[in-house]
Order: sequence, then structure tokens, then C-alpha cells
Amino acid sequence: MFDFDQPPERRGTWSTRWERYPADVIPLWVADTDFRAPPPVLEAMRRRLAHGVFGYNVPPAALRDAVVERMRRLYGWRVEPDWVVFVSGVVPGLHLAARHLTRADQHALVPTPVYHHLRRALVLAKRELANVPLVLSQGRWVWDEEFLAAAVKPNSRLLFLCNPQNPGGTIFTRDELHRLAAFAQKHDLVICSDEIHADILLDEGKPHVPIASVSRDASRRSVTLISPNKAFGFPGAGCAFAIIEDPELRRAFCADHHATVHDPSVFGFEAALAAYRECGEWLEAQLAYLRANRDFVEREVGAMRGLKMAHVEATYLAWIDASGLGVPDPYQYFLERGVALSPGAQFGAPGFVRLNFGTQRALLEKALRRMKSNS
Ligand SMILES: Cc1ncc(COP(=O)(O)O)c(C=O)c1O
Repeated sequence: MFDFDQPPERRGTWSTRWERYPADVIPLWVADTDFRAPPPVLEAMRRRLAHGVFGYNVPPAALRDAVVERMRRLYGWRVEPDWVVFVSGVVPGLHLAARHLTRADQHALVPTPVYHHLRRALVLAKRELANVPLVLSQGRWVWDEEFLAAAVKPNSRLLFLCNPQNPGGTIFTRDELHRLAAFAQKHDLVICSDEIHADILLDEGKPHVPIASVSRDASRRSVTLISPNKAFGFPGAGCAFAIIEDPELRRAFCADHHATVHDPSVFGFEAALAAYRECGEWLEAQLAYLRANRDFVEREVGAMRGLKMAHVEATYLAWIDASGLGVPDPYQYFLERGVALSPGAQFGAPGFVRLNFGTQRALLEKALRRMKSNS
């Protein structure tokens, strides 16, 4: 019913992913997909475009209600409408959390490897931080309690979490999140949880659990950053929100709201509302397509000399250990063979590369042939 095999022409559309490299390079780096957004999203944008007036907007109450309803339905998490703070993207939310939820003399914990903006938010805010290494346990990248205990300090205030984990693809279990929340409670840490990949669940039967939903205490100490734009294909239109129960945390997070970080655009609001109300079926179809891409990538990478990867439970990002290749820079190695991946160093692990498989199968097959023929 939905055709994910049809490649759109993205060159010449200002695409970050497709503009950087020469035309003969297959770009599988930045995390967006090569799929058209779902029909109801396109239709909502078209309707708004036809109206033709693009003045300032307030966040739609209907979207606030859709967020509340979604959190209850998917996670059994009871969110009040006024806990929802809209921001133009998850990245600005990470930076607001680092700047406003810690004082200059406070310290933060951040997993590594991780999406670079979690660390960058702290670096730009000039906050002291500890990189807490995730470990590969039974094929999953998970937190290690000994590393956590060794990293925490008396002035630690903030714990960053990326769930599902980018890169690595882990869906953290309720039990794992309970333990992390208990650690945060013990050390009185605010949790800032980036859950942008929560709708891109590839392993059936493994649910996403927002850490704020595991206990009353976790909810009170959490800032949860969510956005439909990755899963429903409109990151260039952009709409994200933070869910913050505690009024003090919410006030601090919003201290200079609208001065530094703008609301989503009217197209972001329209797209988000349509995504949450009308695109369940499209999302399921996309997940089936991505699941098959994931299985293909795991099979191919598993058969290549010098490469290993853990099973990807969620996201459309394969985190590939290329240290066995014995080359100084695996990113450069694959680029010379015509495939642009994300360099692992960006996430804190130079021996790795990250491959975005959110694309047409035929292109993915071509990219893996290029990678394989030279390994
Ligand atoms: C974990 C994570 N957070 C945030 C973002 C970007 O968020 P946004 O485009 O809403 O700022 C990405 C994009 O790759 C991501 O992987």
C-alpha cells in the first residue's frame, strides 16, 4: 500500500545528507530517511499552504492533547497537558537542559558512545562532564553500574540518557531503566532523556519505556525529549517537545524560552498533529521495511571480514565496529570506496562507523556491495 522502494530525487533539495558528497558517493550518514512523509502529513501541510497566511502561532491545544493521549495509550504514562513544552527540535532541548538545569559548578554524566549533541550541549555550556562507557553485554549496548558509580561526583546534577540508544540501537528494558532511575534518585540527579527514536522499534515485543514512566520519583526528576519528526519523516519541518512534570524544572528549562529557542514552525505543528492522529498504519509499514533492511545489513556486515555489529533493536542506524579492518580511519576507508558513513569519532568511538539504513533497499544493496568488495 505504501511504496518505500521508490527513490525520491533528494539532490538539489538542500538535503544535508545528499549535498555534501560528490554524486558517485552513496551518502548513508545523517539520520534522516529517504522516504516521502506519510500522506496525511503531506495533506495537512498542503491545507496549511493553501491558507496562505503564515503569521505567529501558539502551540495547538489539539497537539498537546494528542501528546497526552499518546503517552497514556502507548506507555500508560499519565502526562498533564501543561507538562508539555514545545521546542523547535530535540537538539535545542538538549542544550536548554545542559544550560538551565545545571549551575556552572555542577557536573553531568553522559553515556559514550552517544549522539554527539548530548556531550556537545555540556561542552558549550562549559559544564564539567564524565563520559560513562556503555558496554556490550549479551549483544546489547547497556549501562554499566560500576562505570556509573565511578563517574558520579558529589556535585553531579544531570544524567543524560538516549533511549533508544543512538548509536547502538538498544531499547532499554523497564528493569534497566528502574535501576538507572534508582541511581538518579540515590544521587539526586535530574534525568534528561532523549527519546527521539522511541517510535522506530524494530524488534517486535520489545516495547519502548519512557524512563519518566517507571516511577513517581523518576517522573518528577525527568525532562523527556520527544519528537515525531524522525519516525514520520519530517525533520526538516521540525517539531519536538519536552515533557517535564516538576514545575521548578519546567520553569528553569523555559527560562529564556522564545528568546533563544523558537517554537516549531506552523508546518512542524501541522505535521506532528497529522502524524500522531492519522499515521499509525504508515508507521507500521515503514517499520516492516526498516526491519527487513536491518536484517539485510546485519547479515551482510556479519559476513564481512573485519566488521562486527550488535543487533539493532531500534533506530535505522547500524553501529559497526570496524577496528578489525586494521585501517587508521574506517570512515575514510569506506568513503574512498564510495560510501559515506558517519565517523565513529563523532560519537566517541573512532574504530566504529555508523550506517543509516533508512533508504531504499536497492541503494542499500549497492552500498553494501561496495563495502564488501573491498573488505
Ligand atoms: C538521539 C538524537 N537526538 C536528537 C536528534 C536530532 O533532533 P532534532 O532534529 O529534533 O533537533 C537526533 C538526530 O539524529 C538523534 O539521533
